[in-house]
Amino acid sequence: MDPVRNPFSPGAGSPPPELVGRDSILEQTRVLLARIQQQRPEKSFLLTGLRGVGKTVLLNEMERMAKDADYRTLLLEAHEQKSLAALIVPPLRRLLFDLNRLAGASERVRRAVAVLKSFIGAVKVTVSDVELGLDIDPERGAADSGDLEIDLPDLFQAVAEAAQERGTVVAILIDEVQYLGQSELSALIMAMHRMQQRRLPLVLLGAGLPILPALAGESKSYAERLFNFPDVGPLSEGEAAKALRDQVKVEGTDFEGAALKEIYRMTKGYPYFVQEWGYQAWNRATESPITLQVILDATETVIRRLDQNFFRVRFDRLTPREKDYLQAMAELGPGAHRSGDIADKMGMKITALGPVRANLIRKGMIYSPAHGDMAFTVPLFDEFMRRTMPDFQPRKRGSSD
Ligand SMILES: Nc1ncnc2c1ncn2[C@@H]1O[C@H](COP(=O)(O)OP(=O)(O)OP(=O)(O)O)[C@@H](O)[C@H]1O
Ligand SMILES: [Mg+2]
Repeated sequence: MDPVRNPFSPGAGSPPPELVGRDSILEQTRVLLARIQQQRPEKSFLLTGLRGVGKTVLLNEMERMAKDADYRTLLLEAHEQKSLAALIVPPLRRLLFDLNRLAGASERVRRAVAVLKSFIGAVKVTVSDVELGLDIDPERGAADSGDLEIDLPDLFQAVAEAAQERGTVVAILIDEVQYLGQSELSALIMAMHRMQQRRLPLVLLGAGLPILPALAGESKSYAERLFNFPDVGPLSEGEAAKALRDQVKVEGTDFEGAALKEIYRMTKGYPYFVQEWGYQAWNRATESPITLQVILDATETVIRRLDQNFFRVRFDRLTPREKDYLQAMAELGPGAHRSGDIADKMGMKITALGPVRANLIRKGMIYSPAHGDMAFTVPLFDEFMRRTMPDFQPRKRGSSD
């Protein structure tokens, strides 16, 4: 069928026409946004889920909802190589600039600008005064200690008080939260603690890999009292079928029941994979309804594309030793595996594998769903490993690689 009219959207953060299966998270978001607006206490959100389940598209939708509710929003993506301070200063500056332009002078906005200036000085983010656009001196003694855990709560407080004086609410949305450094995550949690204690109108909506609750808990034991961690999982069979059918319906097309069943069998309901199968099936099909045979024929292309893109980019970032570890995990089959069993499979001592495991967690490849267990953060990665590294031989390597 006409590839130009292909309704599927495989890709990072590409919004599907409809967010199937996410009603409850969106409803929780609506309630959260309304409660914060009414200055009622409510926990912030940190969405957690595997790669490609739809966290980014949800976060974008949350931003849209916040804007519709007259929030001021800041959307950032944490990055392994960039500090939180460097990421957050430019959008905060824009926000304060906007608040300052509203009619009438605001003492709180002027103060927030002064605090932002001292924060910039203390964390040594380079922003020229001209860009800041406001001729205000830094405020001494606020957000200028150079210790993010002290300065970020001060900064958030000043910004939230400025928003409050302007009768508005701020939503800070952060994607890939697991890439924040430990002290950054701590500072963020402490800043949100301050917001909650003072009932200030600033909410945090984040998203990240399933290691997030553990990281937050390690940083600050009270994190669980400040945040909800809604789980973004795969779609059920019914939801996947609805997502597929609704997407082609607008083009006057449908899927055969057996075709939907086969897509679910292959994708296990992971949204990214559902989009890929839908995309290839559309291009291959010549008429409606799209049949089981079309899906079976499309599978080879889909798998090749996934292997070359989605899986490959992650695989190429690994050292040989890390690949060995993942290969041993894959050999044990789908699901989570005991660290001890993985070590046994590799013919190594569990203690010797600590650093490899830690690196794989840091790279966002694996996480621990329960104490002593390890699982892939990328769905169906075990099958990819078995395709890419079919011959498993336990190898003993030096600790240097
Ligand atoms: N509810 C949904 N129904 C159908 N398709 C969806 C849904 N949510 C997301 N998708 C599709 O899944 C793909 C992945 O979405 P997204 O990039 O938001 O995932 P992610 O969880 O942020 O992944 P990553 O961890 O790699 O950043 C996109 O192609 C998107 O269109
Ligand atoms: Mg994402």
